[in-house]
Amino acid sequence: MRREKSISSMINVDAPSVARMYDWLLGGIENYAVDRAACEELLKIAPSSQTLARNNRRFLQRVVRILAQDYGIRQFLDHGSGLPTQDNVHQVTQRVAPDSRVVYIDNDPIVLAHGRTTLEENGQTAVIQADMRHTDAIFADPQVNRLIDFDQPVAALFVSVLHCLPDKDDPAGLVRRVAQHLAPGSFLVVCQLVSDRQEVREGVTDLMKMATNDSWGRVRTTQEVQAYFDGLDLLEPGLVDVVDWRPDTELTPRRRADDWVEWGGVARL
Ligand SMILES: C[S@@+](CC[C@H](N)C(=O)[O-])C[C@H]1O[C@@H](n2cnc3c(N)ncnc32)[C@H](O)[C@@H]1O
Repeated sequence: MRREKSISSMINVDAPSVARMYDWLLGGIENYAVDRAACEELLKIAPSSQTLARNNRRFLQRVVRILAQDYGIRQFLDHGSGLPTQDNVHQVTQRVAPDSRVVYIDNDPIVLAHGRTTLEENGQTAVIQADMRHTDAIFADPQVNRLIDFDQPVAALFVSVLHCLPDKDDPAGLVRRVAQHLAPGSFLVVCQLVSDRQEVREGVTDLMKMATNDSWGRVRTTQEVQAYFDGLDLLEPGLVDVVDWRPDTELTPRRRADDWVEWGGVARL
């Protein structure tokens, strides 16, 4: 009880949060006026942002299901997991394999506050509040070690999160560092915001840096995302707009975001 109170006192309702803005874009209700106001500004620069968020979430669910179903993955480390929504990673993988284990990692206290009740649904899931840049601390965390056996393959997820890191934090280096901890047969799932329109790259980056008090990274280019995967083997279809990563059905046309997209893929170690 005391711990819940101290988590909620850490939630800053006076400045937008990336987790809560993303929640709003997905149609969620765990957001405040300040987040909604920032999203309205975002939509002026990139009107297709809600489509983009939904496409990204569907990619995450697809990739988790495919890794569980077709590649036998039973352990997931979800970096920058975001607020709980429908069909979270553990629900998707535990439908395929009930013994799957998932650790959610996010640095926003609101994720811990809501995750405790929704994401820690059973003994095989945990949510930890940590900065994903602190790889050593994450791999030493007791909750992580209770659930994840690093001698067995793991899927490390970095879905829609590396744009939160500025270049000085070396997002490609972070992906490589995590890869070094993982057993052969593990997977890296990475996508981030890109745009081929300079005004979108600069407009969104400026807005998000201002909104988050300079703790955001940058909208990048597809070539820059390629660098995250240097020397790694990519599953088909390689690096793409995530809408095109093994789409489920061709029955209805896929709606695309046209100002910017989540660009990425899946590598097998
Ligand atoms: C756009 S959301 C993506 C959520 C989820 N991965 C998805 O794709 O549906 C980005 C999340 O990353 C989290 N985040 C940003 N920087 C982080 C950091 N340095 N360490 C951990 N989490 C971070 C934010 O709090 C937010 O919840």
